[in-house]
Amino acid sequence: MYSDKVMDHFQNPRNVGEIQNASGVGTVGNAKCGDIMRIYFDIDENQIIKDVKFKTFGCGAAVATSSMATELVKGKSVQEALEITNKAVMEALDGLPPVKVHCSLLAEEAIHAALWDYAEKNGIKIEGLKKPKSDIGEEEIEEEY
Ligand code: FES
Repeated sequence: MYSDKVMDHFQNPRNVGEIQNASGVGTVGNAKCGDIMRIYFDIDENQIIKDVKFKTFGCGAAVATSSMATELVKGKSVQEALEITNKAVMEALDGLPPVKVHCSLLAEEAIHAALWDYAEKNGIKIEGLKKPKSDIGEEEIEEEY
């Protein structure tokens, strides 16, 4: 049911933890299952994500997608990080079962929430970033899939 990559990232998740005095922190919940994700960014003066950590109270697919998402955003600019979608994360993991697609939205939304927090703290605007929702509703999931 799960690809080898999903199993690997679930069993050995990368970048688990937290960052003290993070440049941006984003926390989102999945209204469908009640799972929660928090992502921390350490962003330098050139708007490059130097470090990223995450914590989740979520299922295996949420752990695996968050782990992969943190690997994909590390070293990227905030603008590049904004463009990493849950689809890209799923592709990098060689896919997820359809019933688990909503889990991958947690990581994408948490990244957006952390970028929003960073932008607010620094009084800057990140082109294309919309105010994130704290809860990902089911309607939104159905809309996209
Ligand atoms: Fe809740 Fe996967 S079942 S995030």
